[in-house]
Amino acid sequence: MNLNETSAQTAAPVTQKGVYISTYGCQMNVNDTERMYSLLEMANFTPVTSPDQAEVIIINSCSVREKPVHKVYSEVGTFRRLKEKNPNIRIGVGGCVGSQEKDKLIKDAPLIDFVFGTDNIDQLPEIVGRAYDQSKVVQTQFQHRAPYHVETMVRNPGVATFVNITKGCDNFCTFCVVPYTRGREKSRPFSHILDDVNKLTQRGVREVTLLGQNVNSYKSDCGVDFADLIERLAVETDLQRIRYTTSHPKDFNQKLVDVMYRNQPKVCEYIHLPFQAGNSRVLEMMNRGYTREQYLEKIAMIKKAIPNVVLSTDIIVGFPTETEDEFKETISMVEAVGFETIYAFKYSPRPFTKAARFEGQIAEDVKDDRLARLFAAHDALAMPLAESYVGRVLDVLVEGKDEKRGNMHGRTSQNKNVYFTGDKSLIGQMVPMRITKANPAVFRGELI
Ligand code: 5AD
Ligand code: SF4
Repeated sequence: MNLNETSAQTAAPVTQKGVYISTYGCQMNVNDTERMYSLLEMANFTPVTSPDQAEVIIINSCSVREKPVHKVYSEVGTFRRLKEKNPNIRIGVGGCVGSQEKDKLIKDAPLIDFVFGTDNIDQLPEIVGRAYDQSKVVQTQFQHRAPYHVETMVRNPGVATFVNITKGCDNFCTFCVVPYTRGREKSRPFSHILDDVNKLTQRGVREVTLLGQNVNSYKSDCGVDFADLIERLAVETDLQRIRYTTSHPKDFNQKLVDVMYRNQPKVCEYIHLPFQAGNSRVLEMMNRGYTREQYLEKIAMIKKAIPNVVLSTDIIVGFPTETEDEFKETISMVEAVGFETIYAFKYSPRPFTKAARFEGQIAEDVKDDRLARLFAAHDALAMPLAESYVGRVLDVLVEGKDEKRGNMHGRTSQNKNVYFTGDKSLIGQMVPMRITKANPAVFRGELI
């Protein structure tokens, strides 16, 4: 087996081959998949919607929470029949599992022809070309010294799209694999982001969500910080709405709140601010860099400036050594802040991370029980919060039509999905709408 880690220059095949990418994980991964399709399209591949039509099949994987390696192997297994029928098929694994497992993937699953990491996407056409020229290819090294230059590549950006502003993470929360799968934190130059957004608005984009593992620590080469970036995009571009994710409480500051306040309604009244755990001892073990009290102070600062703000969060239950009383502080945090949406997970040990080696791992049934109780506590407050929107008039940016259900849909500044009866000509427009029905997941509205 030739596990080649060098970057020989090999041209991609000139014939039109179908490429299918199966994507797991977060928005960052969805964005990476778009980039892969766009790059391969430029290299003469044709994106297809099913592996049956493809000659190149890629799994873009995620390893943040689950045991993803098994998932990858079982999906690869489903392609065996296709490869037996057509030996020209090449199967690749990219994303976090590629960065994490490297050549082990090919050793354990010889059906895989190429493996690449989160930092090797721009070399994908060349990697695929090499997978046709030689037996196996593994390219997972981080481009530590290369500047972070990634123009957004989306095939059909629509009304709302995502723009990467930072990559990687230097925070090393003790539970998190991201610093190992996405590498050191880097920020894109401000002028590149500005050009990117201007090109997107010329293509009809009205809203962008700025993406990064910790957007608040964005720092451009010319001294523009995250708050400056938001303000300059609000003032200097034709965007109608700006969102961002994910924020880190330790870096979320008054300057950003002031910029959000000054630039409403362009900067949306919605903040995703993961707190992870409600108890300060657990937060310290997690290496989060803030206490419960400091988190609550940030929330008070935000609510004071933006009273209608909608907050969501990420939470981990059953972190090693978490006691029942400490878990109860997580529930009380959800209630104290009044999060409209929570994303809650059972702690799962991840490779390379400190917490995976901590004493006091919590039994699975205890984690199950805590997660169920957390969701029940949240359900009790989320329903009345949703119902409080009925009768209110909100501006909805219309995104498209759900052809299956025949409904038009769009989103409010607070990130609420609203379905309504209307005409396709409204796509891209901001329209006032009265909310007629609401549950925590979805709203129904009528045009006024
Ligand atoms: N176990 C459980 N949840 C995790 N997350 C990250 N790592 C783990 C882990 N090892 C969650 C955190 C993070 C979100 C993206 O995933 O809540 O904010
Ligand atoms: Fe992971 Fe912490 Fe970085 Fe978020 S801030 S990506 S949880 S290490």
